[in-house]
Amino acid sequence: MSDSPVSHHDGKTPEQEPEAASDEQKAQMEQAYAQMRRKLRMTQLAENVKHKVMVLSGKGGVGKSTVATGLALSLAQQGKKVGIMDIDITGPNIPKMLGISGADLQVEEGQIFPVEGPFGVKVISMAFLLEDEDAPVIWRGPVKLGAIQQFIGDVAWGELDALIIDFPPGTSDEPLTVAQSLPEIDGVVVVTTPQDVALLDSRKSINFAKTLKLPCLGVVENMSGFNLRGTAEPSSKITVQGPQGVSMNVQTDEEGDWSVVLDLFKSGGGKAAAEELKVPFLGKLPFDPGIVRGGDDGVHRIVADPDGDSSDAFKIVVDNLLEQLANKKQSDLKII
Ligand SMILES: Nc1ncnc2c1ncn2[C@@H]1O[C@H](COP(=O)(O)OP(=O)(O)O)[C@@H](O)[C@H]1O
Ligand SMILES: [Mg+2]
Repeated sequence: MSDSPVSHHDGKTPEQEPEAASDEQKAQMEQAYAQMRRKLRMTQLAENVKHKVMVLSGKGGVGKSTVATGLALSLAQQGKKVGIMDIDITGPNIPKMLGISGADLQVEEGQIFPVEGPFGVKVISMAFLLEDEDAPVIWRGPVKLGAIQQFIGDVAWGELDALIIDFPPGTSDEPLTVAQSLPEIDGVVVVTTPQDVALLDSRKSINFAKTLKLPCLGVVENMSGFNLRGTAEPSSKITVQGPQGVSMNVQTDEEGDWSVVLDLFKSGGGKAAAEELKVPFLGKLPFDPGIVRGGDDGVHRIVADPDGDSSDAFKIVVDNLLEQLANKKQSDLKII
């Protein structure tokens, strides 16, 4: 089609004259169409993705990304179809944790296709769009939030049982934008470590969820204790020397095996905070050096050791989470 102005000497009044759209108008129309398509896909996403769960924490370094990834893997281990969306635009590290950081995103007809990670988990992350992973991404607020909205609306997730969404630490603009753009979010999982300072921050996340009118599906206490194991004389009492000379008395079993949980920080804080704030407690995840290694090597602990302590702990958390999700759906039905 030609862009040249049309001549209007056909006797029509000026109001009736068809005018050629200017480039600016065309761009506006194109934008409007793109927005409509996105809206349509959002509605589809709400239908095709059974559960949408946001993972939040008050502060960084509590293991939120590790837990978000672990929840996704553990659900996938149970045969569920799972996706994970990494909204940490300035420091996206989920692909690294899953060993797929080099992957390229496929884009077809304006839709982005997620990358498949271990256990078939579908992953979308800003990291896939970055040329240089080490270069810091500096986004101005509106640009960042626009990118997130686009991110949500343009991804072809297909049918999923659950979509886990990981965020940067804190109660910043990102979760707010997602909560406003993504329809029918089931709720929020709050990750904390057992220290008081972390717990204080996790209370902020719980209140933040309340402000957004999103249910708090529960609290997960990460780095909760360190499992020590060994063998000694069967059915005997031994003493295990902990840090700073704290000794622990342990009983061995008939085979001589013993195990003890060393509370590196404290224990039970997450549960206490959950009780105090009247939200469910989903469980504890042990401190596990294998998680640190896994995060660095790109082989998540659940993939490396599917039957180990950490995987077992994740299974409990995931079972509790599924129970909360089922309860929530039931209470939704009651409202109708
Ligand atoms: N349960 C755990 N045991 C040991 N290390 C952990 C555990 N959870 C997380 N980590 C480590 O703590 C660091 C921060 O975790 P990460 O998931 O990136 O935190 P966040 O997303 O909250 O900033 C990583 O090096 C990770 O491997
Ligand atoms: Mg993180």
